Amino acid sequence: MRIFSGIQPTGAKTIGNYAGGFRQYAETQERGDAFFCIVDLHSITVEYDPEELRSSTLDLYAMLIATGLDPDRSTIFVQSHVSAHAEAAWLLSAVTSYGQLGRMTQFKEKGERHEFVSAGLFTYPVLMAGDILLYQTDLVPIGDDQRQHLELARDAAERFNSRFGETFGLPEGQYPEIGARVMDLQDPKSKMSTSAPIAAQGVVRMLDEPDAIRKKFKSAVTDSGRDVRHDRDGKPGVSNLIEIMSVATGETFAKIESRYDGQGYGRFKEDVGEAVIELLQPIQQRYRELRADERELHRLLELGADKARAESAPTLAAMYDRMGFARL
Ligand code: TRP
Repeated sequence: MRIFSGIQPTGAKTIGNYAGGFRQYAETQERGDAFFCIVDLHSITVEYDPEELRSSTLDLYAMLIATGLDPDRSTIFVQSHVSAHAEAAWLLSAVTSYGQLGRMTQFKEKGERHEFVSAGLFTYPVLMAGDILLYQTDLVPIGDDQRQHLELARDAAERFNSRFGETFGLPEGQYPEIGARVMDLQDPKSKMSTSAPIAAQGVVRMLDEPDAIRKKFKSAVTDSGRDVRHDRDGKPGVSNLIEIMSVATGETFAKIESRYDGQGYGRFKEDVGEAVIELLQPIQQRYRELRADERELHRLLELGADKARAESAPTLAAMYDRMGFARL
């Protein structure tokens, strides 16, 4: 089975990204032939800082490996290193509907938030469709917010197949299970956001120091009452903490609830903080070791790019051919 996922390099990654992303990637790589693409071309569709893009690309690569991806087993690469992605996006724009692009929720939402709306923000899903389709992907592990984009990729593939001949298989999405959606510690009704201000106390970053993590969990918003009980609607704050504890330790909600039965929130919040510190400690250490050797990172990325180029080349060639380009 062919697996493909793309991850944006921008923003300091959070434990929410761990629960719904990194953790999943490491698991899915066991299930087949997996491709993980650092989608730097997608990151230029909203305002960004070039120097930051350069370093955050390497940051993300190191984090992917520190959280369990194995570069010998999976193909991990940077989108801009493989020119087939930009080419496929242009070719697929011929079979993508302008109207459908305009209906993308993410485009409408981000478009409202930004003063300058780039054409790239509008065509973003076409680039994403190319990412997926170039590798004859069966399964795409993604967040819930990406459903519409995957649907668009499938529609583009079907339109291409019927107009130019059978070229693409149709990919399926794999969405994170419940519990993979970590909420903001200060505002447990909203998702923990990568793009929150760096000082935000409700957002726990993968690279936060232990003391910062302790402080954030201590000041986490809880709910009225004193039962440590999972109830997303009635007790969003406590439920979020139970889910985070479960991600960190692998325990079930029931086990966590019974351990804190009758103990109130104080001790529980502290323990969640400690569990997260313990989870992150080896990841952070590995990350620092990897990040310190940029030459090695570049060497590994070149190997990843070579594999990705070789895998995507036949599909790209078939696209050009069926579309009638007089290529030599
Ligand atoms: N749009 C995705 C996101 O923001 C990232 C992405 C780009 C992606 N290309 C992809 C995800 C291909 C899966 C497959 O999360």
